[in-house]
Amino acid sequence: MLIVTGASGKLGTLVVEALLRLVPAEKVGVSVRDPEKLTALAARGVRVRQGDYTDADSLRHAWEGVSRVLLVSSNARTSGTDPLKQHETAITVAKELGAERIFYTSQASSSAQSQFPPARDHAATEAMLAASGLAWTALRHGFYAESAMGMNAQGFASGKLVGPEDGKVAWATHEDLAEADARLLAGQEVFEGATPPLTGSESLDLADLAQIASTLTNRMVTRELISENTLLQNLENSGMSAPVKSVILGYYRAAQAGEFAVVDPTLARILGRDPSLMRDVLTRALA
Ligand SMILES: NC(=O)c1ccc[n+]([C@@H]2O[C@H](COP(=O)([O-])OP(=O)(O)OC[C@H]3O[C@@H](n4cnc5c(N)ncnc54)[C@H](OP(=O)(O)O)[C@@H]3O)[C@@H](O)[C@H]2O)c1
Repeated sequence: MLIVTGASGKLGTLVVEALLRLVPAEKVGVSVRDPEKLTALAARGVRVRQGDYTDADSLRHAWEGVSRVLLVSSNARTSGTDPLKQHETAITVAKELGAERIFYTSQASSSAQSQFPPARDHAATEAMLAASGLAWTALRHGFYAESAMGMNAQGFASGKLVGPEDGKVAWATHEDLAEADARLLAGQEVFEGATPPLTGSESLDLADLAQIASTLTNRMVTRELISENTLLQNLENSGMSAPVKSVILGYYRAAQAGEFAVVDPTLARILGRDPSLMRDVLTRALA
């Protein structure tokens, strides 16, 4: 059975939909913290069970009969808790149940030296996978295009994208990444260890996004540089927690250092088509 975790999240929902276009529903099991959210999926024949990365027993039950499992990375870091302990529990259970391969949603910037805190967690998780003795694939996702919209929602609304110096980012959409993840989970192609960066076909910074938004909306959207201290003060004023502030500051530093900039053709090759462009993402978001 193919198990998808995080199936009530944004990426996981799309992975399950893509998977159901490739394999019959009875071969798919999902593991979620709240199965009540997925009664419609259960009605379509998908096995829905409760599973929490903080509770190994729940994962043992939710992953019963697993052949391949997609471990969607925990977002615990942003709430100030430790995602690595959760990932360790999940990897241990996958091994115990004899999974033939574990897939993990990593990031293109995964590195122990990254300035972006989640990228250091991804590198640590990849190291755990390498030491686990399991066959593993780290899906090195490009930076989510939806994060560009989320982080700059206010900026697009006000016509001013405000932040410290950034850098080019090879944005990728949840839809494209989920489709690629599903194809690999279904066995279309095998990557041992980390995949190449799974990115869109262009690398754009905030000034580029402002330019595209101006063209699309016929309204001037500008890019305004501020210092890191002003960013931190602004985040503080809007009530952001310390872990979230550190992730956002780390994003700017890592982007400026070029950590998210590499464009790679692997995602397009897996999909058999061009990945979505930020122009399309912005068109939808700003409509
Ligand atoms: N590549 C990038 O640029 C990028 C950007 C942002 C995030 N990410 C990472 O990618 C992951 C997926 O992104 P997304 O957009 O789909 O985020 P999302 O909608 O917040 O989904 C995260 C999923 O993880 C599940 N989860 C969290 N803690 C869990 C636990 N203790 N046990 C079991 N499941 C747990 C959540 O379950 P519930 O549905 O029960 O809450 C949710 O389904 C994120 O968690 C984050 O690690 C990557």
